[in-house]
Amino acid sequence: MTDSAPIRYTTANGAPVPNDDASITAGRNGPLTFDNWRLFEKLAHFNREQIPERVVHARGSAAFGTFRLTRDLSDLTIADFLRGMDTETPVALRFSTVAGGQDSADNIRDVRGFAVKFYTREGNFDLVGNNTPVFFIREPSKFPDFIHTQKKDPRTNLPSQQNQWEFWANHPQSFHQVTILKSDRGMPYSYRTMHGFGSHTLSLYNDAGQRVWVKWHFKTNQGIRNMTPEEAQALPVNHHQADLFSHIEQGDFPAWTVKLQVMTEEQARGYHINPFDLTKVWPHTDFPLMEIGQLELNRNPDNYFAEVEQLAFSPSNFVPGVSASPDRVLQSRLWSYADAHRYRLTVNYQQIPVNQPRCPVNNYQRDGFMAGTLRDNGQGGQYSSTNFYPNDRVMQGAPAPDARVSEPPMPLEENAWVGYYDNTEEDNFSQPGHLYRLFDDGERDRLTGTIAQDLTEVDESVRARIIAQCHSADRDYGERVERHLKALLDR
Ligand code: HEM
Repeated sequence: MTDSAPIRYTTANGAPVPNDDASITAGRNGPLTFDNWRLFEKLAHFNREQIPERVVHARGSAAFGTFRLTRDLSDLTIADFLRGMDTETPVALRFSTVAGGQDSADNIRDVRGFAVKFYTREGNFDLVGNNTPVFFIREPSKFPDFIHTQKKDPRTNLPSQQNQWEFWANHPQSFHQVTILKSDRGMPYSYRTMHGFGSHTLSLYNDAGQRVWVKWHFKTNQGIRNMTPEEAQALPVNHHQADLFSHIEQGDFPAWTVKLQVMTEEQARGYHINPFDLTKVWPHTDFPLMEIGQLELNRNPDNYFAEVEQLAFSPSNFVPGVSASPDRVLQSRLWSYADAHRYRLTVNYQQIPVNQPRCPVNNYQRDGFMAGTLRDNGQGGQYSSTNFYPNDRVMQGAPAPDARVSEPPMPLEENAWVGYYDNTEEDNFSQPGHLYRLFDDGERDRLTGTIAQDLTEVDESVRARIIAQCHSADRDYGERVERHLKALLDR
């Protein structure tokens, strides 16, 4: 404590507040007067404290840190942050559950989001992945339907096993991800003890215009640790937030070893698995993991709303040297996230400090809500009169495109016509069957027991179709679910 006067409490216009414990009234017991503008400002601001929560992945935790490159990837990419040795890039990482709202619990069975923002010297690159290498759908038009079934039933306002399994019964393409979700990995003990995956196939391109397809993997250095439903129940609902925050606060910084799988365009053409099918992995035997760096989280946010709630990731945030692939789910996400941010955070969301690139932003975009109040309104940090392109002023500092960062044209792998291409006939069962056979006896039993338990709450038709899916993956898988289900129903 010092003898100096306390900091003066002010209104939002900066004027000192004389009294914040009483409103202005006509007499001791009389009504409020209209000159209570300080009270009105306070109440009005309070009414607007909340913004729309994320439509999915609403509940989450984030931290900041560093990605250190340990392998020079100059041969594969012009990406500045992937070249040289020990190149360091600041990162933000947000973990989340998918289905629950902000008021839900951390310790539930769900996929976890694993979204990394790399603040590179040539712009922000966002890898918006999950803790699973595959996803429920390979067709993006199914996403809203799928999410509706994961969230609360519109009538009961309760989660519904019937809705969830009815979707999966009608979409065998989900079976690989369902197998992971209902296995031990569906309940990570903490955000620190799970892997992360970019899941999609992305690409890298080099200065010779050559492109390779890549998948990103983040292997937890803490080791995988999951929890049983009983352990989960015994933990507080905000266990994951508390676990992440306290470990970082105590200097026990979680870290992940970053690895890539790389496939050439030539290999992609002949490969027996569609390399752009989000419901499938690339077997490590064919495409081994190549270690490229370390990602460490070492700083907690100072303010949750400013730095986590307003943190906005988008799969379309690419930087030179890193790009998309023909994966149709990825393609739809290139549009969807920025649209969501414009709704949730308004059009200038990239000017919010946590989303700002750590490099100059020079373009001819102007104005809109909050423009220039959060950062410079357009070109080069000055309110320039040049708000159009092309212009005659590039030699005086007006921004101009740089053709050297052009990406090579995206190849079409076939003689293609524009139209609806049904992909429901893809092989949905070989990979989940393989995964099932990798599980030990105990995990097979827990997986099939969990599925059977859920199936007690759904109708006969859904049950029959899900059991058929299990059989298609592996006979033992199907038989065990049937055995567990019978035992539960006979009780
Ligand atoms: C058609 C498919 C998909 C659509 C339309 C979609 C759409 C969305 C939307 C609108 C949000 C909320 C964004 C916000 O308000 O900040 C979101 C969040 C998220 N999505 Fe997706 N998504 C899709 C598939 C996926 C897939 C395949 C993954 C992972 C492989 C994924 C991972 C995430 C993550 C991690 C977040 C939370 C990001 C954060 O922490 O802020 N999504 N998604």
